[in-house]
Amino acid sequence: MTHRVDPTDRAVLDAWHAVGFLETLGAGPTHTRLLGVGLTIQRTADGTVQVRAEGHDAPLPVAERHGCLWTSLGTPPATPLAIPEADEPDRRLVCCGSIDVHASGLRVVENFLDMAHFPFVHTNILGAEPQTEVLRYHTEWRRDVDEIWATDCRFHQPQAALSAEGGQDTGYIYRVASPFVTLLYKTCPNDALRPDVIALFVQPTEPERCRAHPVMFLIDELSAQADLIQFQQKIFLQDRIILENQRPRLLPLDARAEIPTRADSLSVTYRRWLKEKQVRYGATGTLPSS
Ligand SMILES: [Fe+2]
Repeated sequence: MTHRVDPTDRAVLDAWHAVGFLETLGAGPTHTRLLGVGLTIQRTADGTVQVRAEGHDAPLPVAERHGCLWTSLGTPPATPLAIPEADEPDRRLVCCGSIDVHASGLRVVENFLDMAHFPFVHTNILGAEPQTEVLRYHTEWRRDVDEIWATDCRFHQPQAALSAEGGQDTGYIYRVASPFVTLLYKTCPNDALRPDVIALFVQPTEPERCRAHPVMFLIDELSAQADLIQFQQKIFLQDRIILENQRPRLLPLDARAEIPTRADSLSVTYRRWLKEKQVRYGATGTLPSS
């Protein structure tokens, strides 16, 4: 059974969604799903990419950015999100492979924003006992750009990146640009001033299923591309086990559904933001009961 997106779920419909990595598009058509709708992706003779959706006569809007193909079932902004750091000439674009997850895409974003799980899920990589405390950080809803940001985040990490030699106190900044698009900036072991950038573009295929497209923009001249991808995939597969065991699979937006702690202030703000936007795809409890 498929669940098509509700035509009034505008924040979801009018967003850009990543639907695959450009490097994996072959000569023939590719089939995928977005918000319960079947898509056919095809590169045309002139090199442009066309996306067609079942039930839509006209081709969908497309954009090629950050290593991904983006499309929308509604009326999206002029371009998918800008990541100014991605344009720096010495950054390496690392597309880490698409991963199917049997959980709401909103759950996948929320997990990406959570530091508390590092020592327990990514043990001896992104965290380790006994250093399990999430220190106080700052969360804000930047109304001018309508994004959620968390700053002043710190976590001690045994292996913060493939290129890290020994443990380090890693500074993090989190950014949520749209309901299914998030990224973080973290201390780079190879550059004292500029952070590494790791993005997670989530393609909601069904309310309780999604396809995650992790992309990194790294300052790392030495590591082999395959090793960078493997490092990130190992971490994401650790997350997938946790995500697929969460119940409910949909993200509850009712404030009483799950009891937050101080460490969850980013998650709480993310849920409030989704609720104010009346995001329903992948969520429960968005609309007040009347
Ligand atoms: Fe994780």
